[in-house]
Amino acid sequence: MVLDIPKPDVFNAPLKVVEKMMTGAGPSNYHDRIRKSMSLPVLGHLHTETLKIMDDIKEGIQYLFQTENPHTFCVSGPGHAGLECALTNLLENGDTILITCCGIWGQRAELMSKKLNADVKVLYKHPGEQVSIKEARNCFRMYHPKVFFLAHGESSTGMLQNLLEFGDLCREYDCLFIVDCVITLGCAPIYVDKFKIDVAYSGTQKVLNAPPGITPITFSPRALDRIAARKTLVTSYNYDAILLGEYWNCFANHPRIYHHTVCSTLLYGLREAIALFLERGGLESSWENHSRVTSNFCNLLVSNGLEIFIDDEMLRCPSVVSIKVPDNIDPHKVISYAMKNHYVEISGGLGPTVGKIFRIGLMGINATNEVAEKVAKVLIESIKEAELVSKI
Ligand code: GLV
Repeated sequence: MVLDIPKPDVFNAPLKVVEKMMTGAGPSNYHDRIRKSMSLPVLGHLHTETLKIMDDIKEGIQYLFQTENPHTFCVSGPGHAGLECALTNLLENGDTILITCCGIWGQRAELMSKKLNADVKVLYKHPGEQVSIKEARNCFRMYHPKVFFLAHGESSTGMLQNLLEFGDLCREYDCLFIVDCVITLGCAPIYVDKFKIDVAYSGTQKVLNAPPGITPITFSPRALDRIAARKTLVTSYNYDAILLGEYWNCFANHPRIYHHTVCSTLLYGLREAIALFLERGGLESSWENHSRVTSNFCNLLVSNGLEIFIDDEMLRCPSVVSIKVPDNIDPHKVISYAMKNHYVEISGGLGPTVGKIFRIGLMGINATNEVAEKVAKVLIESIKEAELVSKI
């Protein structure tokens, strides 16, 4: 038989990947141990060893989120899958959701909720501004939402959102509280149970330095009750929280089911990442370290004439720092100079901040003064180069 499409030539060249300093908004660098763990032999998705690793990870996530929720597991997919899983399970046709939009993650929540035919109300803020409990309360009075969405860390601006009191407001209105913790899990305090959060999800490729593609998520008993009382089926198979919970052994009296083929390699990476996180002192030590390193980093940049996008230090996310692009500088030139000459990743703005800021992530093993000083040096040099080019 003659093939219509010949063998592609590109595969004659060996796979080549260079080592970079992953100091953009994520993914961050892996520790060597995480790298090694991912070259362990592949296992089946229902092998006893795999199931034990899943149980270990579940315990690790309960610790990281500070929750006793039995319904705590991972979704196979990136951080976006966490958001989609939360919304898909909690929303039915026509349900009202109130979304706070302080950057791209509110925009993404808005788009996904619209796709689910929800009645979407959005509390828009200027990028970089926090939502106050007073503003939220006004919207609750008007809309009586069934679901409320807030991003704890807005990676598109570098802003950290206060989480206190929103949980009580949600209980008052019988509303479920979703929190995006993608860039904050491990670098800033999140107490899912104490803060009365009903669904929280995170990314693994940020502070945990683990591979992307496997997303921790937790559902409160209230959230589960709401899902159980749905009039319609959850519209997704892959993100169905009950089916996923059955696979991840979340129901005491229910045997595990085969739901999908989880990637055992990603499980190894995540388990090793959690083990390392604990060995390096766990939550309190990581919170303290990220805020100290980020604060030193901001001071260093400011002393070199740069401006931090988030004025108020208390509102700065301890994992992603945003820096205003100086006047008359092309951010793309800066970013590509840093990559080409130093293999250092600097992210540009995202969504509403495109062209306005640089974003630098100091996450997990990259949250050190040495990494911060190196990336600051590269950023300053790259801006100087871009300035020179613009004058020619
Ligand atoms: C992705 O999470 C980003 O903030 O760039």
